[in-house]
Amino acid sequence: QSMLDFVQKLPKAELHVHLEGTLEPEHIFSLAQRNGIELEYKTPDEVIAAYDFHDLPSFLSIYYAAMDVLRTEEDFYELALHYFQRAAAQNVVYVEPFFDPQAHTSRGVAFETVINGIHRAQQEAAASLGVESNLILCFLRDMSAESAAEHLEMAIPHIDKLIGVGLDSDEKDNPPAKFAEVFAKARELGLKLTMHCDVNQKDILEHIEECLDLIKVDRIDHGINALEDDALCTEIARRGLGLTVCPVSNRFVVQNLTGDEIRKMLSKGMKATINSDDPAYFRAYMNENFMALVEDADFSKDEITTLTRNAFEVSWMSDSKKSAYL
Ligand code: HPA
Ligand code: ZN
Repeated sequence: QSMLDFVQKLPKAELHVHLEGTLEPEHIFSLAQRNGIELEYKTPDEVIAAYDFHDLPSFLSIYYAAMDVLRTEEDFYELALHYFQRAAAQNVVYVEPFFDPQAHTSRGVAFETVINGIHRAQQEAAASLGVESNLILCFLRDMSAESAAEHLEMAIPHIDKLIGVGLDSDEKDNPPAKFAEVFAKARELGLKLTMHCDVNQKDILEHIEECLDLIKVDRIDHGINALEDDALCTEIARRGLGLTVCPVSNRFVVQNLTGDEIRKMLSKGMKATINSDDPAYFRAYMNENFMALVEDADFSKDEITTLTRNAFEVSWMSDSKKSAYL
């Protein structure tokens, strides 16, 4: 059995994927046409050729610009359903996807339009594709805490459509502490908490410490730099906190697939998981992320099995469902 066969057949869970980061170039074109939007590119290949990411800000500017084609509930439904179809084709059976409502309300798209379209796709994916999912609302950390609080208020009528909240976008000078109050309120509402601690960002160790001591997160997105501090590693392992590592994303953003770092996490008892982050942009879904680790860092079937098991274990699915995978 080839490694690709093995990876393909393994039932997988994905815990770090931005739905807006699954917007494929072909879909940008069909949505632009339907919504009467003029694009500056003539073909999907031209769009891909313009993907030039070397750090987080250079990625984010392209990511936010492309979202402008997403306008109607149907658009968000299609966006999410297309992702779930690709997930199903790779035997990803469970997903906790992120979405960025502020990136849409700031353009005049209603919160309801976004969440209702995504929710309908989740129901369809569960019913007809066998892909279960629980949605995570991400706040944009380069916007104000007040804006985050307003969006949490907007989410209250839809609270049953959410499992948790996250924090993404530009991390520079936007520490977890900025959002301590909003996250405390989210916790009171019964939501799980996670935050991006993107690789090699300014003040990253302080950000990880704030996640642990102040916010008391239930998971950490990326979190690679914790390896620089033994006490942080011990505490993350002791709490059984999941770390959602995104190898191909890291190869684009910090020029490192993080294979060695993932191995170190496993050896320290930290629950590392493998994820795609923004697969349409980095041109790599789950299988391609695992295969990059196989091809460039010689990951074994045992290591891949451990990483996949970790993902089910640190997921926020109900314990009764979880037991079927562990
Ligand atoms: N980091 C921060 N913000 C993001 C990312 C990421 O990897 N993807 C989409 N928004
Ligand atoms: Zn991310």
